[in-house]
Amino acid sequence: MKPLPIRPRRNRRSEALRGLCRETVLRPEDLIYPLFVHEGDEDETIASMPGCRRWSPAGLLEEIGCAVEAGIGAVALFPRVEESLKSPGGEESYNPAGLIPRIVSAIKERYPEVAVITDVALDPYSSEGHDGIVQRGPRGEVRVLNDATVETLCRQALCQARAGSDLVAPSDMMDGRVAAIRATLDGEGFTETGILAYSAKYASAFYGPFRGALESAPKEGDKKSYQMDPANAREALWEAELDAGEGADMLMVKPAGAYLDIIWRIRQSTHLPVAAYQVSGEYLMIRAAAAAGWLAEAAAIEESLIAIKRAGADMILSYFAREAAERLR
Ligand code: PBG
Repeated sequence: MKPLPIRPRRNRRSEALRGLCRETVLRPEDLIYPLFVHEGDEDETIASMPGCRRWSPAGLLEEIGCAVEAGIGAVALFPRVEESLKSPGGEESYNPAGLIPRIVSAIKERYPEVAVITDVALDPYSSEGHDGIVQRGPRGEVRVLNDATVETLCRQALCQARAGSDLVAPSDMMDGRVAAIRATLDGEGFTETGILAYSAKYASAFYGPFRGALESAPKEGDKKSYQMDPANAREALWEAELDAGEGADMLMVKPAGAYLDIIWRIRQSTHLPVAAYQVSGEYLMIRAAAAAGWLAEAAAIEESLIAIKRAGADMILSYFAREAAERLR
């Protein structure tokens, strides 16, 4: 019998050959580290997210120091807000003396080179646990108002820009918010502050653990009237096109792992940088399986991240950012 002329396995014979042929490389600077912060003096463990912490302001600065050491260049901040500061209108979201503005200034002072990303949405501040302002319908049902919410989001984004955020990241999925935020920031002279738009954000069961970390779950109803239907792909392209047209600097897909096709399609359809968010539920699937001894943790983490990058993400938000970066170093 004649030897096989074509053998793809030749290129996989050694680590050196595999290295030459590798198409996708994950670097620490591709990673954005999402961090939870609260007002307390102690760092807290999070029952719904083992392995993550709700940092005190001081603990947060230490943790960012370690991440920077590992080569991480960007952090995304999420506040756990005291119940007493929550309200139907989410006014605490634009309090210049609030937790997030204070933390942003402190980070910029200590680590001026770190890119700070702040979330624009009302859920941590809303007594209803929704991303926008709720108005009850005739049968008491939850309705999230679009345009009134956008006004509040503009104030929140401005407050974050004043504190020194590099990128404001609207995760609320209201219509028209990117244009409104851009106009507000420009009108106040913040032409350098960027917008990382959560463009294709799906109504996902994989956010559950995050809502536990922030104690921000909706008191009633779900988020399906503003977040996208997991069954839809064309609609994601529409949302991405709108956000780009409204002036977004970067687009995001969220969650990541179950939406690799969406990352790929948005990557093909835009020239803007594309981010993907490996969300809390994706993090926990790996953590929990590894804790049970069912998965090799480090390898599973690396594979999950490289797959997201291969699908077309330029940058990845991941709760594994610090440890993944440390291993890449
Ligand atoms: C809320 C927000 C959510 C996440 C980031 N911003 C939750 C939600 O929309 O309910 C989820 C992140 C994660 O699960 O890790 N604006």
